[in-house]
This record gives sequence, structure tokens and C-alpha cells, in this order.
Amino acid sequence: SELTVGVDVGGTKIAAGVVDEDGKLLASTRRETPATDTRMVLEAIGDAVRELRSHHEVVAIGIGAAGFVDAGRAKVMFAPNLAWRDEDLRQELMGRLDIPVVVENDANAVAWAESRFGAGRDHDDLVAITVGTGIGGGVVTGGRLLRGGFGVAAEIGHVTMVPYGRRCGCGLQGCWEQYGSGRALVTEAREIARHSPAFASGLLASAGGDAEAITGEMVTAVAQQGDVGALHCFDEIGRWIGLGLAQLAAVLDPSLFVIGGGVSAAGEVLRERVETVFRANLTGRGHRPVAEVRLAELGWEAGMVGAADLARTSNDSAVPGS
Ligand code: BGC
Ligand code: NA
Ligand code: ZN
Repeated sequence: SELTVGVDVGGTKIAAGVVDEDGKLLASTRRETPATDTRMVLEAIGDAVRELRSHHEVVAIGIGAAGFVDAGRAKVMFAPNLAWRDEDLRQELMGRLDIPVVVENDANAVAWAESRFGAGRDHDDLVAITVGTGIGGGVVTGGRLLRGGFGVAAEIGHVTMVPYGRRCGCGLQGCWEQYGSGRALVTEAREIARHSPAFASGLLASAGGDAEAITGEMVTAVAQQGDVGALHCFDEIGRWIGLGLAQLAAVLDPSLFVIGGGVSAAGEVLRERVETVFRANLTGRGHRPVAEVRLAELGWEAGMVGAADLARTSNDSAVPGS
């Protein structure tokens, strides 16, 4: 079977893996993401790919990147939470590696992987959202990935949820990802720790008493033990995420929502809150079918598997479940 490499380029880690036609990860490797220098990020990607190719024969490379990717699947035009501006990753990497390269949006890659091999195997119309530093989105409609007119469809993290609200890395105010992301979860936790230490006692205890040391992993761990302060933080982001899904349902009518990204490791704590608010805000509720809300199944592999599969298949011939 033909093998491809998928690379998930995140703000802190680069994960690269060899993937077969059934979406199975055969080998993988990781690198720290060099902080500021794009050259060094390219070197790290090249290095990871070379390591994998020394043990496996591969035919193409797919890169999943956290930004606005052009219609030619070559360039990252803009990345709200990274330093990338108009970076031709395809050309740079093809020059270094001498193999076909396609660049995909990270959340599109996750959506594609989940639709073919994960939580959405049995659905042709789904929206996947990734809840991490920001909010990413990918739309699969009629079994195909929605790319839009310029390649940047499903930039759902930047729909305005609060007019003139919190500042966003994209240059706007009030974007969804400022309210329903992992970063928002931590912001909320630190805020209650500063202002309501009694309510946040569980959170503070897990961070050695320092409000500013609270991390997303801590909020999740403490919430899973039933701590009221930590659960409140999930109420908060769950509300915003659920409200956002209801807006997406009005436009796109998926039969399934898949929740992925780092924060989805919280599991039911997150999913049930999102689903409740989604249902309560769905237009026509009580008189229409309601999309399911599931957790992603492929975890940290999803970005790699999706990018690898999108590198192999032409988008037009690949249909989930076929
Ligand atoms: C970016 C998207 C990305 C998402 C998740 C957003 O801020 O605009 O391109 O998919 O974060 O990484
Ligand atoms: Na996307
Ligand atoms: Zn924004």
C-alpha cells in the first residue's frame, strides 16, 4: 500500500507520522517547534520527515498548519496565533525534500481524518471543531472537504460572537476563539482564582497557590474530580462552544459535530455541556432533526493522519466510508 507522511505543525510541537491508506499510523516522531524563526521551523519539519523516510518509502507529504492556507494548498497566508505571514511552505519543503508536498489547514486535516477513520466514519456531513489555543474548524459536506472560494472556508474561530468584545490575534474583536478555546478556559480559571479564591480553591491548590500558574491541563484534571470552580470554567467555554455550534447548524446543517483539539481530552465534562447549550439554541428545535455531538476519536494523531490522507488522495475521489 502507498504510504504518505503527515505533519502536524503546532505552536509548541511538530508531530510527523507515516500513514497507510487505511489511516493507520505506522511510525511517528516529534520535534519542539522553534519559537520565532520560520527557517528553523522548516528545518525541523525537514529533519522529522527525513528521519521517517530513512525507514519508509513514501510518495507525498501533507502538512497541517494552524492558519489560513491558500487555494493552491501551498502557502500559509496568515496565522492568527503564529508568526507565519505569506509562507510558501510547499516550495520551501519541496526544495528541501524533493517530494510532492501539500499544505492543509490543521483543523481541516483533523476534520478529514475524523470523517474517514474516526468519529465521523458513518457520516457524510459533519463539522469538526478543534478546541485548543484557538478554535479551528473543518467542514465535510457530501463526503467532501469544503474549501471555499479561496481555500479558507471554515475559519470558524473568527466569527464574531461578541460585538466589540475581546481582542483577537486575527485583528478583530469578539471572535469565537476568544471565548470558547483552551486559552479562554485558562483565562477564566485564573480570573476566578484572583477574584474568588475560595471558589477556586481546588484550582489554586493544583497550581501551588499561584493563580498565574494554572494551566488547561490542571483545569481539566480538577474538573474531572468534580471541583466546582473548575467545572464552572467548563460551563463557561461549553456555553460559548454550544452557542457557536447552533449558528453553524443553521448555516451548514451537518448531521454530526465532532469536538477535537487538546481541550477535548476533558471528555464528557466538555461534550455534555456543549451539547446541552447547542440543543437549547438550535433554530427550529422541537421540529427538526438534531445533529449529534461526539468527541473526536483519533486524539493527537488526527492532524497527522488527515494531512497524510489529503496528500495521498485527490479531494474529489476521496469519500468517507468508501
Ligand atoms: C486559526 C485557524 C486554525 C485554528 C486552530 C485559528 O486561530 O485561524 O487557521 O485552524 O486556530 O489551530
Ligand atoms: Na479550517
Ligand atoms: Zn479572530
